[in-house]
Amino acid sequence: MPALERIKHILTAGMPGETLTIQGWVRTKRSAKKFTFIEVNDGSAMGGLQVIASEAIPDYAASMERISTGAAVKISGTLAESPGKGQRVELQASEIEVFGECDGETYPLQKKRHSFEFLRSIGHLRSRTNTLGAVFRVRNACATAIHEFFQSQGFLWMHTPILTASDCEGAGEMFTVTRFNLDSIPQGKDGKADYSQDFFGKPAYLTVSGQLEAECMAMAFSNVYTFGPTFRAENSNTSRHLAEFWMVEPEMAFCDLGGNMDLAEAFLKHVFSYVMEHCAEDMEFFNQRIDDSVLKTAENIIHSEFARITYSEAIALLEKTIETGSKTFEYPVSWGIDLQSEHERYLAEEHFKKPVIVTDYPTGIKAFYMRLNDDDKTVAAMDVLAPGIGEIIGGAQREERLDILERRIIEAGLPLEDYWWYLDLRRYGTVPHAGFGLGFERLVQFITGMTNIRDVIPFPRTPDNLDF
Ligand code: 4AD
Ligand code: MG
Repeated sequence: MPALERIKHILTAGMPGETLTIQGWVRTKRSAKKFTFIEVNDGSAMGGLQVIASEAIPDYAASMERISTGAAVKISGTLAESPGKGQRVELQASEIEVFGECDGETYPLQKKRHSFEFLRSIGHLRSRTNTLGAVFRVRNACATAIHEFFQSQGFLWMHTPILTASDCEGAGEMFTVTRFNLDSIPQGKDGKADYSQDFFGKPAYLTVSGQLEAECMAMAFSNVYTFGPTFRAENSNTSRHLAEFWMVEPEMAFCDLGGNMDLAEAFLKHVFSYVMEHCAEDMEFFNQRIDDSVLKTAENIIHSEFARITYSEAIALLEKTIETGSKTFEYPVSWGIDLQSEHERYLAEEHFKKPVIVTDYPTGIKAFYMRLNDDDKTVAAMDVLAPGIGEIIGGAQREERLDILERRIIEAGLPLEDYWWYLDLRRYGTVPHAGFGLGFERLVQFITGMTNIRDVIPFPRTPDNLDF
């Protein structure tokens, strides 16, 4: 590895007189009579390093000819105090190598603001823009903060499978995985696909959640977490849904719903603090250019206590809001409904003005694995609702009682025999346990203020979108 310096480090700690080499892409080039200003960016920071190339360097004219916005360069030189505004130091070039020219006629990233929609159509290039650059640096910081948080609390990081035979959420939103030639699928006597001839000998899918396997591991290691890609074939073209998204799922043995809520709150606070500390410049940028409440929101998350209410209380609150005429909703509200995004956002954004954890949902609208409450009507579920986003975390205390779990699987219309191993956990040393799933992209949206989930994952997968 060459002794190169990243521009982020040079901008903050580079000393005048130092000689060094940088590599990166040209953001702008401005020519004066006897010299040229070149701003070089290497992705380590929002800002680039200003380079001054004078006629004195070898092949000056030829090099300058080849350099334009987007070109890839290697530049050696000496740092000097910058007389110009906006930067502390600049690089006086002694040698310039151009790796790759960039055709200015066709290069789609011109020095102007592009719409996010347009940028999505050039997903292979958009990470070179200021906004997407900031998003992906923050995304990286979030992932680091997540591992740091769980590791410091003694959680074991484990990898759950992506290929699976079971539908964790029971919502039937799975992508099928097959080796069949779809033009000639082997059929059984009943005329249906004969999966015994497929790769796994039975239907296979992409996982919607690593939870069931995380529960197995929690029964051996007490506290575990998984952080991986999950897939949902729900046909919802919204600013908060992806067909492929990343989920963080902690699972804790010897833990109830209260402990689960405490963990979720401490976890979100830690990630926000970490990002504020490590991505100050990017966060400032989001506050200025994307949403002027980004910094206020972060402070609010770090310092305020999350609100906690039951589903029944939430419904009563919404009904009262409707009654007094202070707010109208598109969807009707009554006990038993699944909260719509507009309801969730009203609670978090307008009523509580901070994240709110809603617990104890009706049995009928939640997954089979959630622990049945003594009222026989609700389960020990929890959703964390965030201002501007709605549901960001979904979790529960799990049903640890064998007989009730069996009944719930049957009631959910799922084949009991597929869950034999999951039921075994209740046969052999079962304990109260709980966990949750955080939608990683929704977290990045929440932190950055980005309005569309497609702009916080490098290569989004949504209905009819599979480029790049
Ligand atoms: O609420 P969900 O469906 O919960 C589970 O999958 C549980 N098995 C998690 C667990 O307890 N271990 O999904 C969890 C979170 C949601 O709160 C949301 O933030 C995110 O995953 N999510 C999505 N994010 C982007 N696109 C989608 N289509 C999403 N569906 C869920
Ligand atoms: Mg959910």
